[in-house]
Amino acid sequence: MAAEIQRIGVCTGGGDCPGLNAVIRGVVKTALLRYHWQVTGIQDGFDGLIWPEKSQELGHDHVRGILTRGGTILGTTNRGNPFAYELVENGHKVVKDFSQRCLENAKKIGLDALVVIGGDGTLNIANEFYRLGLPVVGVPKTIDNDLSVTEITFGFTTALQTATEAIDKIQTTAESHHRVMIVEVMGRDAGWIALEAGLAGDADIILIPEIPFTVEKVCEKIEERERLGRKFSIVVVAEGAKFPPRDAEGKPIPPAEPGQVGNTLAFSIRQHTQKDVRVTVLGHLQRGGTPLAFDRLLSLRFGVAAVDLIAKGEFGRMVCLRCDKIQTTTLAEAVGVYKTVNPDNDLLRTARSLGITFGD
Ligand code: F6P
Repeated sequence: MAAEIQRIGVCTGGGDCPGLNAVIRGVVKTALLRYHWQVTGIQDGFDGLIWPEKSQELGHDHVRGILTRGGTILGTTNRGNPFAYELVENGHKVVKDFSQRCLENAKKIGLDALVVIGGDGTLNIANEFYRLGLPVVGVPKTIDNDLSVTEITFGFTTALQTATEAIDKIQTTAESHHRVMIVEVMGRDAGWIALEAGLAGDADIILIPEIPFTVEKVCEKIEERERLGRKFSIVVVAEGAKFPPRDAEGKPIPPAEPGQVGNTLAFSIRQHTQKDVRVTVLGHLQRGGTPLAFDRLLSLRFGVAAVDLIAKGEFGRMVCLRCDKIQTTTLAEAVGVYKTVNPDNDLLRTARSLGITFGD
């Protein structure tokens, strides 16, 4: 049992994600109703501990009607690391360590524990604070589904559905105009959205960060389809797919910025095949909107379980899903190891068996 909890804090860090508000609702309701604790909402990730005047008391009214809302009512940032915070002072960039200030402010606000909802970067910071003595518990979040210790993260299923529906719609233009249509999806380090949306959306070519591809192989597939009378092709590419560093004439291409791999690929496919190519970058559409029922349920379960962890005094730990059961692991175990698509992954083998090319 934890000693004398009266007030807990909750914050969301990293990119927004469908289901964040549902977690917040689970945290606030459980704290108020089951444990009779008070809850402080820390604004904009850890920024709210650097500048605590942004924080606010959370009651039932604040979490009413938010289950279905995307985004986070607490605000978030994927910039501010309090251990190395970048600021501009007198026109110069400076990096400051605000960690002690955060610890002092957590005391001033009266936090007996803090629920941190975030991805790898945010959970890593949470673990650093835990090591400095802050009683922290974590909730894993990312639409990319690339955290190794949990089977699935909330938000992924909603993002997958958004991406799949987009590919479904792109199919009609591809077929009618005999075009190569490239759909770029999120996934910086792992290709889960690309693989699963590509498979569900009937793509012909899927390019993911885990499998280096060549433009030649991609174009071979497009040309093979042409010969079979299939005059269009759908390419789903993850933003982090490793683009080969040369163009059709063998000249080096500078590494694509995030969000640009689709356009760089389109340029190369046009050069090789002379086909009409169009690019759709789904971008933040995938992070927005109402969470699907699966994500709402997972988020609520995670939120409730995080508060139960505090009640048991199990700090430095994070909730996760294993064999469809809510379990826990240490924050230290949770960070730094990405869950990527393995060569023997079942979905990957399924896709290859269906003739989908990965450009390798
Ligand atoms: O949450 C991770 C992610 O979705 C990545 O796939 C993507 O690179 C990143 O967020 C983009 O974040 P932003 O544009 O908000 O900085």
